[in-house]
Amino acid sequence: MRDDSQLRWPTYPTRGVMLEQAVPAPSGGGSVHVRAADGTEYLDAIGGIGCAPLGHAHPLWVAAIHRQLGRLAASANSFHTAPQQQLAARLIDLFPIPDARVFFGTTGTEATEAAIKLAVRATGRNRIIAFERAFHGRTLGALSLTANPAYRAPYISCPGEQVDAPAFVHSRVTRLPFGDLDAVARAFAEHGSEVAAVIVEPIQGEGGVYPATREFLLGLRKLCTDNGALLGADEIQTGVGRTGNWAAWTTIVGDDPADQPDILWLAKALGGGFPVAACLARASCAEAMTRGTHGTTFGGNPLACSAGLATLRIIEEEGLLARAAAQLPTLQKIAEQRPIARVTEIRGAGAMLGIQIDQPKDKSAGAIGTRLMHEHHILVTVCGGHTVRLLFPYGAGEAELRQVWDALATCLETT
Ligand SMILES: Cc1ncc(COP(=O)(O)O)c(C=O)c1O
Repeated sequence: MRDDSQLRWPTYPTRGVMLEQAVPAPSGGGSVHVRAADGTEYLDAIGGIGCAPLGHAHPLWVAAIHRQLGRLAASANSFHTAPQQQLAARLIDLFPIPDARVFFGTTGTEATEAAIKLAVRATGRNRIIAFERAFHGRTLGALSLTANPAYRAPYISCPGEQVDAPAFVHSRVTRLPFGDLDAVARAFAEHGSEVAAVIVEPIQGEGGVYPATREFLLGLRKLCTDNGALLGADEIQTGVGRTGNWAAWTTIVGDDPADQPDILWLAKALGGGFPVAACLARASCAEAMTRGTHGTTFGGNPLACSAGLATLRIIEEEGLLARAAAQLPTLQKIAEQRPIARVTEIRGAGAMLGIQIDQPKDKSAGAIGTRLMHEHHILVTVCGGHTVRLLFPYGAGEAELRQVWDALATCLETT
């Protein structure tokens, strides 16, 4: 086998582990364990980076994909297919956007692009308000909304930002502190007639698992309405049940139709591990996307839509929303029983959990993530350098959370 550095672009930090297959779950459902090529079994506490809400290789999900594979795997978007229509209808029924229409894509960043294009076309404006610490993807439009300059330079420059390298694209993104409603009000006062949309993650994931408050999201709703701008919720990481409701917006804000965003987009968990993304928008906005204004070959592919339908069905049939919702309180209970001095905060909602180690400036979580993998065979991600993030399959419960917590205690007490 050739070394990875001879095969792939060196874009990803590699962990030096070759994952091979799911370890069959004793319960017969999806698995929370994966086996590496050397036989080591890992507890997958990042659930395929948020893409395995059912666990890995759930037999019903696998069977649904196999069935569709034998029927029809590919079709142009100028044709209808039953899986595509059924998935669109399910999403319209389950998600809280009033009178929604759906655009299908394949990746998260592609759904963000669809949302940006829709906001610009529907309003005839070209400025977007986004937030510090935000992550919305890595294609050029989505990247302009993503806060981390390490990802953006030398591709994009935004107004008022110092760039060292010549930028490829100049965007009209105004970046403001997350949670600072006054700053958003001031930006509207200055640029109101130019603002197409405010785009926000209800819980910032990559930025460190920071939930927005209800007041902040409702305040954004009002400012957008008052100024003729659209409100967009990036629920790529938070959506499809991760917080215990189909949308994190529902978890934080509630389901009053008047309080909902105009655009809401999903990826990660939607396909249960198969690449599927969807952008929902109110019909009154979606009608701006007339024929030819956007498109993508694989978006809404019948195989992908079958995977999405199976994922939604299994989440409902196995009561996984409630089980996802229970993860945060369960972790909090475990933490109370056995406090770890260096854990300074637990943040999140449902099955989206952030465990902050020391103070953010200490950036001491990276080494802990590595030790959890090598010494305890637990896979986690670290965000912001300070927070261990868990994105378990929704069915994970006390046993798995306790395993992570005990391992964390061992790492932190011996560092
Ligand atoms: C909130 C959010 N937006 C956008 C993205 C980008 O999604 P993708 O990597 O599928 O393009 C991610 C991925 O982590 C995300 O968490």
